[in-house]
Amino acid sequence: MTSGPDVPPAAEAPPQEAEAVFGDSLPKARRYAELLADDGVRRGLIGPREVPRLWGRHLINCAVVEELLPEGADVIDVGSGAGLPGVVLGLMRPDLNVTLLEPLLRRTVFLEEAVQTLELPNVQVRRGRAEEVRGDLSADFVTARAVAPLGRLAGWSLPLLRKNGSLLALKGEQAEAELAAAEKDVSKLRPSVSDVIRVGRGKVDPATTVVRVTVTSDGGPPPGSQKSRGGKKKRGRKR
Ligand SMILES: C[S@@+](CC[C@H](N)C(=O)[O-])C[C@H]1O[C@@H](n2cnc3c(N)ncnc32)[C@H](O)[C@@H]1O
Repeated sequence: MTSGPDVPPAAEAPPQEAEAVFGDSLPKARRYAELLADDGVRRGLIGPREVPRLWGRHLINCAVVEELLPEGADVIDVGSGAGLPGVVLGLMRPDLNVTLLEPLLRRTVFLEEAVQTLELPNVQVRRGRAEEVRGDLSADFVTARAVAPLGRLAGWSLPLLRKNGSLLALKGEQAEAELAAAEKDVSKLRPSVSDVIRVGRGKVDPATTVVRVTVTSDGGPPPGSQKSRGGKKKRGRKR
């Protein structure tokens, strides 16, 4: 069957490695792939050219991040878009409590529908920007893919993390360079340690590159940084 201009291409059958990665959650992953290929394309949340690479480039690429999440963790997926990686993590790990944070209404409507269709009681949708939910949302992990350069992303995400929590930013091959360029600014935001890890070797090619920034304090900027001294410029003495 050929598709007309208004008919999005159908989702492909999952490749063999999807079975090993998703296990029992493969039927839900398949349903999600169908939603993305159909409604996701119709509503402009995902490009039609992504459909043939939904499994490798999107679903499996996101799924392998699951390795980094301990049992029962609270996760905020910042800039979830059509649900990547948050929906994938939520559907394969019912023990996680996942909040999909997304400012655009069109996307949150799709996300609400996806959560309902896939029957994911452990996943909530929250409309908003990361910088607006400080003090309101907090989690052990923030995930983000294709949302913002590392420095900006860290500025939005580190305030949402509990002590010893991590930002997991899914990045491309330039991850080390991006971290090197942003590390100084990131460490001023909050005491933290950063590294670059590759997950899913042998399951997805290329492996998924994650910049991990783990905060080591309860909150606020590091001691001695300008903001920790009040964040205001010193005023000159009155003469
Ligand atoms: C390029 S899309 C990526 C979507 C998804 N993470 C993915 O990998 O397919 C970037 C998303 O980040 C969202 N976004 C932009 N600024 C944001 C902010 N300050 N807080 C939360 N989300 C934001 C956008 O609305 C958009 O849905």
